[in-house]
Amino acid sequence: MAEKASGKVDMEKIVSLCQRRGYIFPSSEIYGGLSSCWDYGPLGVELKRNIKEAWWRSVVQERDDMVGLDTSILMHPQVWAASGHLEQFADPLVECKQCHLRWRADELKDNTCPSCGGEVTEPQQFNLMFKTFMGPVEEDANVVYLRPETAQGIFVNFQNILNTTRKRLPFGVAQIGKAFRNEITTGNFIFRSREFEQMEIEFFVKPGTDEEWFDYWLEERHNWYVNLGIKKENLQLRKHTKGELAHYARKCYDIDYLFPMGWSELEGVANRGDFDLTQHVTHSGKGLSYLDEETKEHIVPCVIEPSAGVDRSALAFLCDAYVEEPDKEEIRVLLRFHPTIAPVKVAVLPLSKRENLVEVAKKVYADLRPCWMVQYDDTQSIGRRYRRQDEIGTPFCVTVDFQSLEDNQATIRERDSMNQIRVPIAELKTTLAAKLEGEDLFVLPQGGQIWKEER
Ligand code: GAP
Repeated sequence: MAEKASGKVDMEKIVSLCQRRGYIFPSSEIYGGLSSCWDYGPLGVELKRNIKEAWWRSVVQERDDMVGLDTSILMHPQVWAASGHLEQFADPLVECKQCHLRWRADELKDNTCPSCGGEVTEPQQFNLMFKTFMGPVEEDANVVYLRPETAQGIFVNFQNILNTTRKRLPFGVAQIGKAFRNEITTGNFIFRSREFEQMEIEFFVKPGTDEEWFDYWLEERHNWYVNLGIKKENLQLRKHTKGELAHYARKCYDIDYLFPMGWSELEGVANRGDFDLTQHVTHSGKGLSYLDEETKEHIVPCVIEPSAGVDRSALAFLCDAYVEEPDKEEIRVLLRFHPTIAPVKVAVLPLSKRENLVEVAKKVYADLRPCWMVQYDDTQSIGRRYRRQDEIGTPFCVTVDFQSLEDNQATIRERDSMNQIRVPIAELKTTLAAKLEGEDLFVLPQGGQIWKEER
């Protein structure tokens, strides 16, 4: 976290909006919360779903060299011996001799406690894996671990995937799932928590082609964020130094995002070489090699791993979308989400609660709901309802007014420009579909007209 972000949104504003509008709540809040665990509310769950679906679509659905997988969180303990996590997945822990607070040694500037200035102990390696017991007897023989990465579920299924899908190199396996790390220091909202979700790809390639595939995936993953609206200038690629590299990695780049607390890792892209498959061959005694049909030789593929966090992505999308802008005498707060990411795509708002208006608006609502997440709202003034939808990031509002009863038309208001067009109700679905795909608001369907141009 080298550089303090200047001119960026305050984290407090994001946290406050998330709580106020139902994006993210502290876990077990009525009991005072559970440190660094978070619950995603009605909008947060949609945001996460959209992120995961966009990722899945881009790395599995739209490619013929990828398949998906969903493996268990609890795995055989030998997996973690083989992967090196039992021995090496540790951070250096120090304790303040005065106030007894614990810190990660590599995050301290010197040998003093950031809280009270007391002297800290010598660092000790602290393993980050959560332990639990399988079955009713709590003894060493029954210890299992909550997975600290989803990747190992992919490696141990390598042979199953080869046998059942007949994929040939290069091909990849994608998985989304929870991971757990008993982090020494957490914080910055959902940036570093002890329970989080990963979206990981293990892409298996012929040795010797790994460097070019590494470059390919680094660019591909960077572009994924940009295509979903993250500003290019808020992303950077950072190469890991030798000392930083994880025990399994030959090379690694972080895709950093300029979070409110400074540049920090959003996703890591690593060249894991043949480390994992070789380790699992040694520890399991099972062959996990691949028959190269050209050379008729058995080879152990190399692995390129783009590993992203769902929660960190959610935070990056929230921070990047957050805008405060002057609007007459007030400040308009909006989340300028890309439509793919926005939790609610369309809000249907009757101008008033009059029965005949509500009836038409509810018909529109029923018609649009099967297509997208749509909200219906007939409370408060129309201005306040627009503001609420702006603040939760809804790209389009559809308003049914008294004239709609006569001309069977409704207005569509665009979140970012606040411009409005008026279109036949029968054309709403196709018009909104086109706008959500990125068509300019002022491209009108037959019978449509520009209604209000804000600026
Ligand atoms: N399999 C490789 C691996 O797990 P990592 O860099 O430790 O690599 C990958 O984690 C991604 O998982 C990170 O870039 C981040 O997005 C997410 N992540 C890791 N630890 C996290 C934590 N404590 N809280 C939230 N997200 C985390």
